[in-house]
Amino acid sequence: MNSSTHSTELDQTRLPSHVAIIMDGNGRWARKRLFNRVRGHERGVEVVREIVRAAREIGISILTLYAFSTENWQRPKVEVTALMALLRKFLRSELQEMQENNIRLNTIGETERLPDNVRKLLQENMALTEKNDGMRLNLALSYGGRAEIVRMVQEIAGKAKAGTIDPDAITPELISDHLYTKGMADPDLMIRTSGEMRVSNFLLWQIAYAELFITDTLWPDFSREEFTQILKAYQSRDRRYGKVSDH
Ligand code: FPP
Repeated sequence: MNSSTHSTELDQTRLPSHVAIIMDGNGRWARKRLFNRVRGHERGVEVVREIVRAAREIGISILTLYAFSTENWQRPKVEVTALMALLRKFLRSELQEMQENNIRLNTIGETERLPDNVRKLLQENMALTEKNDGMRLNLALSYGGRAEIVRMVQEIAGKAKAGTIDPDAITPELISDHLYTKGMADPDLMIRTSGEMRVSNFLLWQIAYAELFITDTLWPDFSREEFTQILKAYQSRDRRYGKVSDH
């Protein structure tokens, strides 16, 4: 490839299949402008729309967004309520676009803890988009990686006790099959906005070989352009999975 003429293009043959994003920095974005935190989340939802659209157009197969962690339940009640209201609004406003663009909605996390009106909308949207076979949009809601692992161990231990699983037959694949992401490829790329160098209990098992990109940009300032830049940087990395490079 001639890098001078194609330097702005992505290599379609080397796109990450699964991109996971920790969308951090809504509060800081708001504070910098002397707004309340909810204004940051509102702007954050607009960026969610833009990135979902961009990911689909680029050809990403799975986009997993960390929208609400198990730890987020400890935020002030007004903020939790506002986030739930934003989520409902998002689910209502995006259904048509998801249908038009063949996007399948999915959730990961302890969704049974969500308010009934959010759960109902999620279930409806998931059912209505179930047959869409374009991009899969995974919303991590009330999600925590350790809680997911505990749940997986309980399920497998229960089956072992019942005699339906032989403990000697437990493999990484069997473990993956008992996680919320069952049937999905692991993330190839994990992006975190707003500069913090941590994984914050996100997809702990699944990110074993993911490439990590941390940008200082606050989520409400994140854009399609920066997303594309990160995908390009991803394509220039040499993924070796612990082996030696073959070129
Ligand atoms: C982090 O900002 C972000 C969240 C707690 C959740 C992300 C939520 C959204 C982008 C909006 C809702 C999403 C959907 C899909 C409707 P922060 O508040 O932790 O920021 P801070 O670290 O600067 O305080």
